[in-house]
Amino acid sequence: MHSLESAKKVMAWCDELASITEEPGRITRTFHSPAMQLANGLVGGWMRASGLQVTEDAAFNLIGRWPCARAKAKTLLLGSHLDTVRDAGKYDGPLGVLVALAALENIKNDGHALPFHVEVIGFSDEEGVRYQTTYLGSRALAGRLTKADLDLIEEKGIEKARRKPGEFLAYAEVHIEQGPMLEARDLAVGVVSAIASQARIRLSFAGMAGHAGTTPMHLRRDALCGAAEFVSIVEKCGILATVGMLSVSPGASNVIPGRVDLSLDVRDQDDKKRSRVCARLQREAQKIAKERRLDLEWHIVQETPAVPCDPTLTRLMRKAVALHEDEVIALPSGAGHDAAEMAQLCPVSMLFVRCKDGISHNPAESVRLIDVSKSIAVLQDFILHLAKQN
Ligand code: GLV
Ligand code: MN
Ligand code: MN
Repeated sequence: MHSLESAKKVMAWCDELASITEEPGRITRTFHSPAMQLANGLVGGWMRASGLQVTEDAAFNLIGRWPCARAKAKTLLLGSHLDTVRDAGKYDGPLGVLVALAALENIKNDGHALPFHVEVIGFSDEEGVRYQTTYLGSRALAGRLTKADLDLIEEKGIEKARRKPGEFLAYAEVHIEQGPMLEARDLAVGVVSAIASQARIRLSFAGMAGHAGTTPMHLRRDALCGAAEFVSIVEKCGILATVGMLSVSPGASNVIPGRVDLSLDVRDQDDKKRSRVCARLQREAQKIAKERRLDLEWHIVQETPAVPCDPTLTRLMRKAVALHEDEVIALPSGAGHDAAEMAQLCPVSMLFVRCKDGISHNPAESVRLIDVSKSIAVLQDFILHLAKQN
């Protein structure tokens, strides 16, 4: 099928998948929710219709396999994630899974026989919304779950999804850019150079709840005033840092806030800089707590180092892009991707697709049909180049 026809199918698939949600009226699919089970069922059906062998692993990752004639051959893994943030767009994650499925379908229909097995994967948790710890699906697959992860999550046995080192030839992921660079350069696609380092921290300030009408200001231990001061410091910390969740207890207009729980997300391409800033923010939080007679809890939920994409695979991806785009540019990714975990298991490469105004993690996420069509064509050529080399 021509890649424009395939792109139309991918766009229709994205629309249909967007109707599967755990929050009516907006797209939200979190790890192992009923909505994720339905999403796996729907995408699994499309995979089956493409002739793939469909399974779900112990970490609820959806896998469609196209085996090659040589049983001992390695496997090329293609995909992205099917979970979403709260009130998400349609494309962050699903686009990469469905572009991979469309590209593979075209290769099969063109009568190519590949010298490796191919699997299309829909990872079960890249966003980390359910447990605020990211990449559960890809970390399970790469054998990188920690005891702390396993203690935290309700689902038992997800570590059994671990795959053998040496089993995979490569992992390639297509994803919307989630930033403005491709649009600024008037390009449909670009090659990813590296994925940023990130830390996710859970913290709380605890003071004392009390009467809003009777407690003098100077006697208060207001946890929200401490948290507000901290959020302002985060905004000025010099790198990408976000407080995305804030929960005020007990939460009544006439009660002084006794406790505030916050999330903190800190990113940079430079691991050392990111850790230095995290340590500084912790010291600032301690200072605020001391001055305001609050108790501080600081818990690092997850730290992921920066991950460069594989140079050899990236050269191959650049070659594929050059067949469809006037200029090939390399972009670092500020967003996290399953490729960061897969890099522990095999070489990885990523292709970014332009998205409107660089907007993502927002229902306004939008991609152009023609750009999706290019990404399918590029991925097809990447797979065929890789086949020639193996
Ligand atoms: C995933 O989208 C992340 O970078 O948080
Ligand atoms: Mn995302
Ligand atoms: Mn994503």
